[in-house]
Amino acid sequence: MTNPSKNAKLNAWVDEIAALCKPANIHWCDGSQAEYDALCQQMVDSGLATPLNADKKPGCYLFRSDPSDVARVEKRTFIASEKEEDAGPTNNWIAPAELKKTMTELYDGCMKGRTLYVIPFSMGPLGSPVSKIGVEITDSPYVVVNMRIMTRMGAAVLEKLGETGAFVPCLHSVGKPLADGESDGGKWPCAPIEQKYIDHFPEERVIWSYGSGYGGNALLGKKCLALRIATVQARDEGWMAEHMLILGLTSPEGKTYYIAAAFPSACGKTNLAMMMPTLPGWKVRCVGDDIAWMRIGDDGRLYAVNPEAGFFGVAPGTSMDSNPNALHTCEKNSIFTNCVLTPDGDIWWEGMGVPAPEKGVDWHGNEWTKDSGTPGAHPNARFTAPASQCPVIDPDWENPNGVPISAILFGGRRPSTIPLVNESLSWEHGVFMGSSTGSETTAANIGEVGVVRRDPFAMLPFCGYNMADYFGHWLKMGQKLRDKAPKIFFVNWFRKSPEGKFMWPGYGDNSRVLKYIVDRIEGRDVGVKTAVGILPKPGAIDTTGLDIAPETLAELTSVDTEGWKREIKGVEEFYAKFDGRVPAALMAELASIKERLG
Ligand code: OXD
Ligand code: MN
Repeated sequence: MTNPSKNAKLNAWVDEIAALCKPANIHWCDGSQAEYDALCQQMVDSGLATPLNADKKPGCYLFRSDPSDVARVEKRTFIASEKEEDAGPTNNWIAPAELKKTMTELYDGCMKGRTLYVIPFSMGPLGSPVSKIGVEITDSPYVVVNMRIMTRMGAAVLEKLGETGAFVPCLHSVGKPLADGESDGGKWPCAPIEQKYIDHFPEERVIWSYGSGYGGNALLGKKCLALRIATVQARDEGWMAEHMLILGLTSPEGKTYYIAAAFPSACGKTNLAMMMPTLPGWKVRCVGDDIAWMRIGDDGRLYAVNPEAGFFGVAPGTSMDSNPNALHTCEKNSIFTNCVLTPDGDIWWEGMGVPAPEKGVDWHGNEWTKDSGTPGAHPNARFTAPASQCPVIDPDWENPNGVPISAILFGGRRPSTIPLVNESLSWEHGVFMGSSTGSETTAANIGEVGVVRRDPFAMLPFCGYNMADYFGHWLKMGQKLRDKAPKIFFVNWFRKSPEGKFMWPGYGDNSRVLKYIVDRIEGRDVGVKTAVGILPKPGAIDTTGLDIAPETLAELTSVDTEGWKREIKGVEEFYAKFDGRVPAALMAELASIKERLG
């Protein structure tokens, strides 16, 4: 295919990468449906993709990855800033020159026998003043079709880039060159774990990824550009790039409030973003489920844009109970990865809320029966679905100026101590809360699952610079927003009883907490000041129609002083990692909460 680009910098970069990676062909992606269909057909023919039954899931395909390539690889993710201290203690660092040398050797000839695809893409609505253009070079057609769902990509982006437009270069290879006449034989190509690299060069704003075809490692617009590189751009340009869902909540009176919420990976952001409130008269509309780019608008308020165009959601646990809207979103034109294939050509996963098929093909590609005792889908199996197909997509989800944010929520999986909802006493206290976010780990990353780790602002794996400086950036944004700043709350849907049972029903009943948050936004006197923040007064959470013991609710909304003392000790230990770089205002917050707890 001839090169449609008139951008000299882009053309020179593509020539340079082609000379290094030595692909068999070069394909410039136009983003058309015909191109998408042809690539899917090519992957069906090569045995990598399975088309699903068109009566059940029209336009849908199932993929199975290599068992080493099922999640993000935080241990193999690098922030290669010039100085190590600029990456900070929470990121893996390698000196850029050394990393480039290693990578150049790996990239040399890595695309042999494959096609090099050039994917021009926009994060954010094309042409919006807040959008950023990236160009991903990849040798994975799976990446191309996923990028078409997750971003705005193709000819229109090249057009926008014109002759001189700037872009973030994103280089990706699955790291599996083919010898003459060799093919993948229908197997997912990737490199062994110790050869996987997800690299970011924050000063140059360049991304190099090698050896993994999995979503967060390979769809470089998402975690790599829209979070890690964008955090650096946001710091320098005075805005915020956050791991947050954005939802619009409409009250029975018809007033809409936009809320942004940061929860660590696989903690229910997609579920909250598309929630069906159990409280009559309340409506939730989804703007985004994973990333928020937020800027101060002309009126001084904070406005959020979802830079993505699709959802890359965790499949297991998604059911007609937990998230019917997500299920409807991926009914057609969607890609499924590592789910069970049923005998009638549909997909299934654990926690789908429908009986398991008697038998099927599991995510390894093996015959599987429901009584086999092993999960059929990988716990981090995913669906990739167009946001436009979401039945509750917000009418303003593509508004180039974003939506005005009234409240920011932080949260995590915390079995004890952390209340159901806790409002910060000030912006600084809210930043303290965000910085101290902790959560039990999940299957979204390769590593131990179920241990509590600090995940400040749910950004631990996604901040492209020293996290202590990022806390400082949040404080600065507060100084600019002043009395127009959104209120900040810390929520916890995951408290457990000593018997290990969830104490709060969650899902649609979280609307009860959102209603309380609206009361606070409206300045209603329903909260009470405590040592740890503002907690709901008795009766402030609407429990109409909910079967919850008053003692349980009281426990969820009270201060466990001993637990909090342990919690604060954990935060102190975490802050100590930053060698004195944590901003003074947060050290003061730490001192004052310690004092308040006695
Ligand atoms: C994601 C993640 O895929 O956070 O969104 O891992
Ligand atoms: Mn995420």
